[in-house]
Formats: sequence, C-alpha cells, structure tokens
Amino acid sequence: MKNFLTLDDIPNLEEAVNTILDLKKDPFAHEKLGTHKTLGMLFFNPSLRTRLSTQKAAQHLGLKTMVMNFSNEAWALEFEDGTKMSGLRSEHIKEAAAVVSNYCDIIAIRAFASLSDKAKDEAEEVLHNFARYATVPIVNMESATAHPLQALADAVTIKEQGLKKRPKIVLTWAPHPKALPHAVGNSFTRMARMLEADFVITQPEGYELNPEITKDTPCYYNQEEALEGADFVYTKNWTSYTQYGQILRTDDLWMLTAEKMKLTNHAKFMHCLPIRRNIVATDAILDHPNSLVIEQANNRTYAAQWVLKKLLENG
Ligand code: CP
Repeated sequence: MKNFLTLDDIPNLEEAVNTILDLKKDPFAHEKLGTHKTLGMLFFNPSLRTRLSTQKAAQHLGLKTMVMNFSNEAWALEFEDGTKMSGLRSEHIKEAAAVVSNYCDIIAIRAFASLSDKAKDEAEEVLHNFARYATVPIVNMESATAHPLQALADAVTIKEQGLKKRPKIVLTWAPHPKALPHAVGNSFTRMARMLEADFVITQPEGYELNPEITKDTPCYYNQEEALEGADFVYTKNWTSYTQYGQILRTDDLWMLTAEKMKLTNHAKFMHCLPIRRNIVATDAILDHPNSLVIEQANNRTYAAQWVLKKLLENG
C-alpha cells in the first residue's frame, strides 16, 4: 500500500478487519515501527475523532506527530498549474507538498468538499494534488468524496457484533440543517457492498447518492419499508447530488425514532459522529444500548493504526 486515499487501497477488507481486531487486543505490539519517524496531519476542516484517534494510532506505533490547521494557520494554497499568482493564494501546492514531505514520513490530510463546485470536489483537488507532489505516502482523513478511515472502522464495528450469515444493513438518509458532503455515505456504501450482507439505501427523492458508487444497490424512497428486518441501521445526512450542495427538505419525517426501530430486527444503530440529537436521531436511539456510535469512534484508532502500520512497513 503506497497511499491510503480510498477503500480501493486496501488489498483485502476481511484480512484488514481481522488484523485491526488483533491490533485492538495488543495496541503496542509494534511500538518500535515508527521510531524516529513523523506523521504530519494537515487539517483544512475541523475534527474531533479523526484528529485524536489518528494521533493515538501514531503513538501506538512510536510515531511522532505534527498537526497543522491548514485553513487558518498556513499560506493559502494555489493548485492551478501555470497560473500567475497575483491573488490571495501565496503558496503553490508543488512547493508546499515537497516541503512537508521533507519534514514528515507520512502526510495525512483532511479536506472536505466545497459543495459549490462539483467538478473540483470530484477531482479531489487537495488530496490528489498532495498525492501528486508529495514524496511520502498520503492518508485520507476525509476528503471531498470519501472517508475511508471511517468506513474501515465501521467494518470492524459490524464484524465485532458477530455477524449472522447475511445481516441486513440499511443506510438511511437523515435530515440536517446544514448541507453536508457525501464522503461518509459514499465510503460506507463502498464498504458495505464488499461485505457478505444484504445492503440497502433509503433516501427521499432527490437525495440519491452518486450512481457510480451505489451501482445496483437497492434504493428505497420509503424509509419504513427499507428498515423492515434490518440488523444494522446507519444514519447520515448528505446534500443532494444532482442539485449539488442544496438542501431540498428541512422537515423531520426522516429522523430516526424508536418507533421506526421497532420495524427492525432489534437493529444496532450506527453513525459516524458528530450527530445532532433530535434532528438526525432521537435521544432514545442514541442512549439505547443498541447504539454503537461510541465503539465506532473507538475503532477509528485501530483502523488508523492498521493504515499507518501498512505504510510504514512499505518503507
Ligand atoms: N467521524 C469523524 O470523522 O469525526 P470527526 O469529524 O470529529 O473527525
């Protein structure tokens, strides 16, 4: 593994999940692997879980970390080639990526979607330009279209529940007052499609995810129909993909409630966090013993540790 940009960089998801469970049992088993090496963590957007869990993962491997809030502490980056830099952007990605590569052995980047320019978001301007011009491995800590560290931790969390032969997994859209990116929905979809599971998505009309990602996944406009018999229910908001960046509805008809969970097979509840209580899901859902959200966040450490370990082993 040279970089960790998407789930496609994982050679075998099942093997990765099993190794992550081993790392969780013995987190310091490879504590010398990262000695005298540095992980640089560049944040263009806020974070709680990704920042702390990835730092903790690095500590388990003996890596030092350097963290920079790029959006307000660094020079504004120019990504266009051949441009006359007379505007507000003071540093070109070519120099920035090369310089950070001198200071760090691995660079991890968080850079969300703008939700204003679909083409630029889909081109993953920040992540892919770092990958292009850096001379060290790049880790995606949530980009415009993908959050593979979250999806990997979610796969571990599902596995830990002791899977019956083919669990039913439902990804359901939820309301939210702000327009949110597709990254978590996309990566969870990609991951769930790799599992031996009956995976379905439910969302209101106009909120279908990118069809190149959902492919032939069954999609329901009727949330209650989709929830019937579910073993896992993953809630997440995302903005409209076709009317890019827009909020098409603000009512709470799609909020997950205890009443709706009665349709499921005593389903476990999942969300990547942060979550807006009584908007996305009710207090009763989040405070119920079937909620896995805290364990999902805990598993972020070991998923990140697996990724960093792989990159260090690759030299
Ligand atoms: N789930 C997740 O990525 O959380 P943060 O945005 O807090 O890092």
